[in-house]
Amino acid sequence: MQLLTLTAGLGLLSLVPAMMPPLSPATTEKLLGKWHIKRWAGDMPIPEWRWKDPLPPFTFERNGLDELEFRMNLTKPIGCIQYKLPLYEGEDPGTFLTWWRHVIYIHFLPGKSFAIAYFRGKMNYQYYQMMMLMGRTLKADPDAPRIFKEFVMSKMPQTGKIIIPPHVEACELVQDS
Ligand SMILES: *[C@@H]1O[C@H](CO)[C@@H](O)[C@H](O)[C@H]1NC(C)=O
Repeated sequence: MQLLTLTAGLGLLSLVPAMMPPLSPATTEKLLGKWHIKRWAGDMPIPEWRWKDPLPPFTFERNGLDELEFRMNLTKPIGCIQYKLPLYEGEDPGTFLTWWRHVIYIHFLPGKSFAIAYFRGKMNYQYYQMMMLMGRTLKADPDAPRIFKEFVMSKMPQTGKIIIPPHVEACELVQDS
């Protein structure tokens, strides 16, 4: 399940409380490169059969306009599609805005090889939250999942189910030149 595709499709501007320690606000420079989605959680109405969808790695790159861009190659019935989402650094440290002015919070865990991304938005008059733990490698880490779990419990004490998506390699785009 492509979290950001979903979150990008949502309604209004979100208002979000601060992240908790020991997280530190991410900057464009330090986000660049490849990331894996290690865990995610959220209370959007995503059918349970999609929870086990394998997720490919994604990258943060600078696009031609020198802005940060989220990119993920997704396998679709018609082939390999590159999903792109430009993000603009917000005024508050660690905030990134989409074209639709959704605010996505990205904060690093100590060491900066893991980060938590958080989004809260409104859909059909109801607020939804999505959050993910992203990591630079596929290696297991004892601390990052624990910090993510605390984070999830702080945002969704009732429904804090954490999903560990299977990984899949990114598909290869067919160059259309
Ligand atoms: C998507 O595919 C292209 C072409 O194969 C590759 O250069 C790029 O790194 C891939 N992107 C991701 C996020 O894996």
